[in-house]
Amino acid sequence: MFRPVIALLLTAGLCCGPPGSEAAQYRQLNDRPIIGILAQENLPKDPSPHGTSYIAASYVKYIESAGARVVPIRINRTDVEYVKLFNSINGLLLPGGDVNIETSQFTQTAKTFYKLAIKANDAGDYFPVWGTCQGFQQLSVLTANKNLLTHTDTEAVALPLSFTPVAQTSRLFRHFPKGLLHTLSQENITGNFHSWSLSMLNYSRNANLKRFYKVLSTNTDGKLEFISTMEAYRYPFYAVQWHPEKSPFEWINKPGMAHSASAVQTSFYTASFFVSEARKNQHRFSSKDEEEKALIYNYTPYFKSSDFYFVQNYYFD
Ligand SMILES: *[C@@H]1O[C@H](CO)[C@@H](O)[C@H](O)[C@H]1NC(C)=O
Ligand SMILES: *[C@@H]1O[C@H](CO)[C@@H](O)[C@H](O)[C@H]1NC(C)=O
Ligand SMILES: *[C@@H]1O[C@H](CO)[C@@H](O)[C@H](O)[C@H]1NC(C)=O
Repeated sequence: MFRPVIALLLTAGLCCGPPGSEAAQYRQLNDRPIIGILAQENLPKDPSPHGTSYIAASYVKYIESAGARVVPIRINRTDVEYVKLFNSINGLLLPGGDVNIETSQFTQTAKTFYKLAIKANDAGDYFPVWGTCQGFQQLSVLTANKNLLTHTDTEAVALPLSFTPVAQTSRLFRHFPKGLLHTLSQENITGNFHSWSLSMLNYSRNANLKRFYKVLSTNTDGKLEFISTMEAYRYPFYAVQWHPEKSPFEWINKPGMAHSASAVQTSFYTASFFVSEARKNQHRFSSKDEEEKALIYNYTPYFKSSDFYFVQNYYFD
């Protein structure tokens, strides 16, 4: 029993993650983590919205599958409300979607939480942030303080990840089963549904991004190399341009959707990793009652259609 603990403590001193990223440093991990998922303005092409903003249910299931509960973060609320919510949740997920990542309410709220997360982590309060697809892009805009994305031909394609040498020792991938990492590097597992990307070129030329994020994998649309996975050096911030939540939970029948056992396992390992990061802080709601009122269980997802981008959506006003 002793050796692994000692080994972990030793490597904690050597490794390069954010202060406090090693679980061994935590006397007590939080076994009741709650993740905030940010809502966004409805898709213009949504034929039957039941509110003015939404969260795709696949993101909720994705988080729940890894042992955390979900609280929706609604757009267009006051900063006072957001600060209170930030101090009540253990992590933030910025989902995919289709809003303007410079001017939307989604962006406004993401920026508020991003600043709170930076401040918290700087003060030794370990608060993880995860961005998927649009969430990845949003994080790049927030860190660079400008939009450096460029058009790519990646609207519906599953790809293998081209890992960089540092992926092996990254916080995100180092505990993945070796066999799964190999499969991820060979098979068309990661679903890409984006027409904008952060190119390696623009990342390399931007000091803010380069200092902040370590590139874990790249991909190409045949013409341009773009970043598909990255993690921050000094913050527990993670961004994937691909969609781990779709493999187990979305069923639209189109190219790029991967439902193989390896794709589903990949989904679980990413969710489980992120939730393990969220176990490292003790944020909590001020009372049981406040917590009950905030949880996603207060809302009912609507079945859209198996032909819609999202098979089920939660809606908010
Ligand atoms: C934001 O909230 C205010 C007041 O609650 C409301 O008047 C306004 O229409 C909302 N804006 C959007 C874009 O939902
Ligand atoms: C770099 O970013 C600019 C926006 O600042 C964008 O117009 C351009 O297409 C990007 N170039 C590449 C190669 O990513
Ligand atoms: C993976 O996808 C690429 C691009 O769509 C395709 O050319 C290739 O044949 C696929 N590979 C496999 C093993 O399915």
